[in-house]
Parts: sequence; structure tokens; C-alpha cells
Amino acid sequence: MSLVSKTIAIGSDHGGYEMKEFIRKKLVAAGWDVKDFGTDSTQRVDYPDIIHPIASAVNGGVYEKAIILCGSGNGAQMTANKYPHVRAALCWNQEQASLSREHNDANVLSLPGRFIAFDVAWEMVLLFLNTDFEGGRHQLRVDKISKTI
Ligand code: RB5
Repeated sequence: MSLVSKTIAIGSDHGGYEMKEFIRKKLVAAGWDVKDFGTDSTQRVDYPDIIHPIASAVNGGVYEKAIILCGSGNGAQMTANKYPHVRAALCWNQEQASLSREHNDANVLSLPGRFIAFDVAWEMVLLFLNTDFEGGRHQLRVDKISKTI
């Protein structure tokens, strides 16, 4: 029995809050189940406090995919990638979002809430959710990611 749900997890710090809310509402309107991990306002919060619970849940198989945001997308991505079964991709445009799935089998999309347009972010989310991993030579490379030397 698979633990994986078809619910999309989402969360941000204050730097990604407005874009997170925009994406969350678009996902709900498009029929997705969404688990919102916060934050709930533009009040300052530390991005690891929001991102660790999301990444831990993806790592444990509770969610298949998540969308995380902070101002730059960097801190959110760095936090998420501490977890062995998380492959978080920081993406700035649609092609990167597609490639993160096709080549890297990304299961977390990290967005820079202060640096990209909302409509571009939404297109990236759709590509992230609807693009398949190509496997093959890319699977061999993904398998090597965890093999530190
Ligand atoms: C918050 O000011 C900002 O540092 C944060 O949102 C993020 O960009 C960190 O990587």
C-alpha cells in the first residue's frame, strides 16, 4: 500500500508568502488537494521552520510533490535538500521547471517569490506537476546524487 497522497504540499516564509497564496488559490481552483504549511502572513518567519516539516513529509512519502518558496528560493531549496529522498529544484523559468522533472525527477519545486512574475510561477507549477521523468540515462545520474565521496 502506498502512503503517497495526491495532495500537493505548499509552504513559504514571508518572502514567498504572496506568491504562495496566489499559487495555492490557483491549485485549489484547478481541483488539486492542497496542504498549506504556512506561513500565514507577511510577518517575518525563519524559512527552515516552514520548510523542514514539508521536506520531512515528502521524504517520508506522505506527499509525492511539494512547492516551496522564499524570497530567493535558495534557503528553501537548501533546507529541503537536507533530506535524502527530496530532490528540490530552484527554478526561475518554465524550461528549468520542465527540465527539473525530465532530467532530475524533482519532487520539490523551489520558487524565488521576490524575483519572478506570478504568471510565470504558475506556468512553472503546471509544468512541474504535469511533466514526467525521462528515466534512462537520467535515472543513472539521479542515482549518483546521494553517493558522496
Ligand atoms: C528573507 O528576507 C529571505 O532571506 C528569505 O526569504 C530567503 O530569500 C532566503 O533564502
